[in-house]
Amino acid sequence: MTYDISQDSISDSLNTKLIGNYVVYLDSVESTMDIAADLAIQGVAEGTIVIAEEQIKGRGRFDRTWMSPSGKNLYMSLILYPDMRYLHQISMMCAVSIVDTLSSILAEESSISIKWPNDVRVSGKKIAGILVENRILESSEQISIIGIGLNINFDTTEIAEISEIATSISGELGYQIGRLEVINSLCSNLERLYFGIQSGESIKVRWENMLDTIGKRIKLSSGEDIIEGLASSVDEEGNLLLILKNGESLSVNAGEVTSQM
Ligand code: BTN
Repeated sequence: MTYDISQDSISDSLNTKLIGNYVVYLDSVESTMDIAADLAIQGVAEGTIVIAEEQIKGRGRFDRTWMSPSGKNLYMSLILYPDMRYLHQISMMCAVSIVDTLSSILAEESSISIKWPNDVRVSGKKIAGILVENRILESSEQISIIGIGLNINFDTTEIAEISEIATSISGELGYQIGRLEVINSLCSNLERLYFGIQSGESIKVRWENMLDTIGKRIKLSSGEDIIEGLASSVDEEGNLLLILKNGESLSVNAGEVTSQM
């Protein structure tokens, strides 16, 4: 079994029409997000994916570093030009696509869930993260760069700072798997769900059912603030509705859930 990937092997393995119609595969980059943004500004085809073997400055939400060791994981940025009407569903769609991919690879009894808004977890440990960067061009065209970092053959137990909070596909399976299989499954799922959204379907209910945050007492850090409350539901836009201690309710559209009980 070879775990290597290349521009040709990725393109050949895909059986999608839109997602991955153009593949940019690079050895080492600062971040696939920047390469993808430049390509989008130049007007590259929708569905283009940028995949790198390693990232020197891989970034996550809140400008955190995304560990991106060479040859082990998936670091991918997907370029979409979505309609404003369903922009809010893009990040939900990515999280659900990752869950669907993991469900087809991991054991049936695996506990795969999403921590609001889009951390994909297995048994409470993070396995994938999603970073969506939206821009509107002067031409008023909407560009979405969707960064997906998915731990595949990464031994997270070797790294003290993440060993308790992160996992990988190989960590769950107990053996390594070919990254092409994962890329192929993920791109197929992204395409199926994106086409569904374009034809008017909503992904919100599936995403909501995968959230492990609802019904929990949570602490959420949002900017300088720490907000505590009961996560009661999510609305159509993906905002989290919190019931605060004083009984008031609050709708939050961004932030990080730092504890949930
Ligand atoms: C998060 O959970 O904080 C989001 C992590 C997103 C990481 C991916 S890896 C591919 C793409 N390039 C980056 O620099 N970040 C995203």
